Amino acid sequence: MKILRTISELRGALSPDARTGLVPTMGAFHEGHLSLFRAARDECDVVVVSLFVNPTQFGPHEDLTRYPRDEERDAKLAETAGVDLLFVPDERELYPEGFATWVEIEDTGSEGKARPGHFRGVATICLKLFNIVHPQVAYFGQKDARQTALLRRMLRDLDVDLELRVLPTVRDADGLALSSRNAYLSHEERRRALALPHALEAGRSAQVEGSDPVAAARAALNGLVPDYVEVVDLGGATVLAAAARIGSTRLIDNVVLEGELT
Ligand code: PAJ
Repeated sequence: MKILRTISELRGALSPDARTGLVPTMGAFHEGHLSLFRAARDECDVVVVSLFVNPTQFGPHEDLTRYPRDEERDAKLAETAGVDLLFVPDERELYPEGFATWVEIEDTGSEGKARPGHFRGVATICLKLFNIVHPQVAYFGQKDARQTALLRRMLRDLDVDLELRVLPTVRDADGLALSSRNAYLSHEERRRALALPHALEAGRSAQVEGSDPVAAARAALNGLVPDYVEVVDLGGATVLAAAARIGSTRLIDNVVLEGELT
């Protein structure tokens, strides 16, 4: 596996005729990230992973400075999962002096309302990465349901010729969705956080029985106060999504209600 820090180094290492898969990440790898790397390894000739804690998608009071960073550990995990090229640019490489162009997506749902500016940062960095790597396929996790739905809309609206693959959420044995932010939770908070996946499961059961999944999930949150509980159309699949704050940590999760992820 090669580690590349500049756009020109990365471009020089790419093979224009190979089927190239890109997995954008912010590092602190866990099994969720590794599942995307492995899928790309199975389906592509060249697997590129970007590792960049993108400052423009963090709000002023969010966790940019304390976001977990461990490049050495991440590089080892990526190599073991079969990644060919690990792109680790610094901030100036992707946001040079005078950077002034942004991708603004309208109607970013409840997650967008809860995090103003967040999806502008996500869409802008993802489009930049797509333009740098020119992958045939890009891999994303179902865990960030609204992110995948908005990126699909961006690809369609801006005529970007790229297949977006969405893979299922990887969970701990007790049901908590893996997230880099789980590292912030104390033992007690982690226990309380389980109400989030439990409530979403209650919502899914309600849907199967023909009642309102949002109301059922809200009723099962066990004292957690959600930012929102909502149904999100992922194009092919509909998911029930929720966000809640446990102490100072904000977690999001969702379950499939109908359809299949593609
Ligand atoms: P990050 O949170 O590092 O996530 C990178 C990818 O891993 C995303 O597509 C995310 O949905 C996926 N992922 C996270 N947890 C997962 C889990 N438990 N199971 C399966 N997949 C999971 O999402 C971002 O970074 C950034 O917004 C990014 C797209 C890189 C733009 O900066």
